[in-house]
Amino acid sequence: MREAPGTKIRRLDASVVARIAAGEMITRPASALKEVIENAVDAGSRSIEIAIEEALDHRFSVSDDGEGIGGDDLPLALERHTTSKISAESDLLAVRSLGFRGEALASIAAVSRVEITSRRRDSNEAWKISAAGGEVGPIEAAARAPGTTVVVQDLFYNTPVRKRFLKPPRTELRLGRETVLAFATCFPSLSWRLRQDGKTILDLPAASDLKARLLAIHGRRLRDGLLEVSYQGGGIEVSGFVGVPDLAKPGMRHQMLFVNDRWVVSPWLSSAIRHGFGDLLPAQRNPWAVLFLRLPPEAVDVNVHPSKREVRFLDERTVFGVVRTAVQKAVVGLVPRFFSGASGAALQVAQSPQGQYVHPKAELNVDGTEIAETVYGSGLKQSVSQAGLVGDLFENEQEKPASRAAASVWQLHNRYVLAQTRKGL
Ligand SMILES: Nc1ncnc2c1ncn2[C@@H]1O[C@H](COP(=O)(O)OP(=O)(O)OP(=O)(O)O)[C@@H](O)[C@H]1O
Ligand SMILES: [Mg+2]
Repeated sequence: MREAPGTKIRRLDASVVARIAAGEMITRPASALKEVIENAVDAGSRSIEIAIEEALDHRFSVSDDGEGIGGDDLPLALERHTTSKISAESDLLAVRSLGFRGEALASIAAVSRVEITSRRRDSNEAWKISAAGGEVGPIEAAARAPGTTVVVQDLFYNTPVRKRFLKPPRTELRLGRETVLAFATCFPSLSWRLRQDGKTILDLPAASDLKARLLAIHGRRLRDGLLEVSYQGGGIEVSGFVGVPDLAKPGMRHQMLFVNDRWVVSPWLSSAIRHGFGDLLPAQRNPWAVLFLRLPPEAVDVNVHPSKREVRFLDERTVFGVVRTAVQKAVVGLVPRFFSGASGAALQVAQSPQGQYVHPKAELNVDGTEIAETVYGSGLKQSVSQAGLVGDLFENEQEKPASRAAASVWQLHNRYVLAQTRKGL
């Protein structure tokens, strides 16, 4: 649970507003969902429930058990440039919460019908406020346990042109689910539930740690394919997991990167991860990774893009080097999987469709084949209810059947092992 960063909502000075990355932040329904979830996390919630009806631009709600918003503050929450999270210009240089601009709810309310019901943890009263197309209604008494529920309906109803150019609802739903999974991955100590049209499709009670959360989400498909990353250098802490090379895929949607608990997109970090794998990766594929970077908030600028998903590092080279080293250290234990040849003269890498590497911990029997099951094959049936969701999440990636060139390993003089890599021997 995060500590809520103060609760009183204040109007930001013009000088602070001028320095905030301006622009359209609610460009699509999934970004509205992301903003509302961020607020629930910032409020120090322990449990967050998201419900989607039909499609994200039809109706979604996010309910939390966080700090809540006082009745007097409810209209301010819907006003632009009002926030409880920062106050001075200098705060922008070291943002510690997910939100900081005081813009998200106002932007959502400008293009939808929003209703917020909230009760502060220290109050017996709950209050409700509604807004449609930016018109904010009166505060009304309501009933609710401590926490906040934000309902967003009819997104872009008053901007028909924008609505017409939205991606199909299915794409948006998938991105919405991906967003929920990213937050659930980032905050394993919180409990998360996602319901779609009344059906629970994700139910994640608070987990003890990241690994437990990842296994709860992905099930057996990851069980033996995770390599722990844990490294510190240059004032940066890198933690999380990368997947064995067989979990690598084209595209980037299977990578989740977090910088100071912010879900980011960073080609720079992705490239550092890839470099960390060296020659172990099949061509055209990117490693599976869930990586967390922690560095002093002053060393990273989150105020780069209205979506808050881009970050800029003060010292990019150091970040690159540290992440690459962190990944290198995690994958260094991977060994090629051998079948011992009849004469022992030549060893051939196993060419199962599942791939060519085994985790050193995988059980091997005497002739080098695995005992129980293929360790991390993509064909494994997942046991958890989340399986369908995760499968759905990855369905659109251009997953091609393994069509890699056969790699080979030879043994010379019963002593040296020669392995073929992408760059040579
Ligand atoms: N679920 C919630 N629980 C408690 N307070 C909330 C919640 N959602 C919004 N608020 C309050 O409303 C304010 C405005 O929210 P809004 O998302 O518009 O701005 P922000 O989070 O401060 O910054 P950003 O625009 O970067 O998201 C917040 O600063 C917070 O005080
Ligand atoms: Mg916010």
